[in-house]
Amino acid sequence: MNDPVIFLLGATGYVGSQFLIILGRVLPNIPVRALVRSSSDSERQAWLHGVHLNLTIIDGTLEDVNTIQDQAEKADIVINLASCDHVVCTEAILSGLRKRSANKPSQPPFLLHVSGTGIISDNARGEARDAKVYSDLDLDLESHVSCDFIFVSSLGSLYDRLPKDNPHLEIDISVVKAGTNKEIPIRTATIFPGMIYGVSEGIQKTTAWLRAFLEFAKINGHSGTWGKGLNSINNIHVKDVASAVLTVLQAALENRAYEGAQGIYFASSQEPRASWHECMTVIGNHLYEKGIVSKPGSHPFSDEFIESIKAANLSRGIHADGWSLFGGNQFSKPERLAKLGWEPVETKKRSILDSMKDSVEAAI
Ligand SMILES: NC(=O)c1ccc[n+]([C@@H]2O[C@H](COP(=O)([O-])OP(=O)(O)OC[C@H]3O[C@@H](n4cnc5c(N)ncnc54)[C@H](OP(=O)(O)O)[C@@H]3O)[C@@H](O)[C@H]2O)c1
Repeated sequence: MNDPVIFLLGATGYVGSQFLIILGRVLPNIPVRALVRSSSDSERQAWLHGVHLNLTIIDGTLEDVNTIQDQAEKADIVINLASCDHVVCTEAILSGLRKRSANKPSQPPFLLHVSGTGIISDNARGEARDAKVYSDLDLDLESHVSCDFIFVSSLGSLYDRLPKDNPHLEIDISVVKAGTNKEIPIRTATIFPGMIYGVSEGIQKTTAWLRAFLEFAKINGHSGTWGKGLNSINNIHVKDVASAVLTVLQAALENRAYEGAQGIYFASSQEPRASWHECMTVIGNHLYEKGIVSKPGSHPFSDEFIESIKAANLSRGIHADGWSLFGGNQFSKPERLAKLGWEPVETKKRSILDSMKDSVEAAI
């Protein structure tokens, strides 16, 4: 690929801004067009241009279909670090890439989508379970485009089923479908991070779930969980997610990435998992010490509160009701990234629980 142009969505986000920092260090000359809302904010402008020298800001939101389609059509590579649940935005990206592919069939464009391990949730309703550890080598999204279930093989002939209404799946399948269409070739890869933690060096310092749970704690007067919160997710430091995105990008530039049906990458560590109850207890005690909530520790949220979150999610077009995302176990093994030489270096240095107070401080 000669002088590839990257169209980047989510450059100001928690993962996206950390990724932009390392992209600016490793590939400072690669042209980046970043979709940014509130693009007239001079502080944001200065930060973005400061970390990547060859960056152009494109003013727009994820709802600006024409802008997204147009930019995707002009790009060689699209990296979506903004939202894995935004159907309109994903369709606009794919539509632009299809046009690009039709104009230059000999040089298919590359889409790097970032989703999450919510797709493998067991929806245990807050219970600890000896849940299955899924390998990304076994995940087959391609052959199940028209089925009600996603099948996963872990032991050769043994097949398990993932409910198709787990979070993110609908869009992930549309990405794989585009990446396996031989008539309009588009190269695709999807990265599925686990529970991302740590303070980002970028514009947005705090992980999205922590921002949400801090709001939930303020509303309820205490930190809390979906059910008992004994469920857990393999975790990963934000800097390791950024390096995972760079690893796949570099492999794609050198034509050695897993793509299409094989373009499925878990990004998680095998460091000890912390349950939501453990995380929320550290957070609750810290918020209590600071006088932000009235009760220390963590306590299950009420059914009424959980219903209200479900309603808010649905009104924003997010199908997950919260139980699957926050009440399920998601155990993953990132075997494809390991094959590309990636390691979760930062995760090994400091655990999720050890980092939690700093993350709360960065958020409040
Ligand atoms: N955080 C986790 O633990 C986690 C785990 C697994 C997967 N993921 C996935 O990873 C991706 C990135 O997550 P994140 O934690 O980095 O999210 P984030 O911090 O909330 O960042 C989202 C980015 O998208 C932009 N954005 C959101 N809505 C927009 C809109 N309507 N128009 C224009 N820009 C918009 C934000 O812009 P502004 O700066 O203007 O808000 C920001 O740049 C998401 O798909 C997420 O689901 C996250």
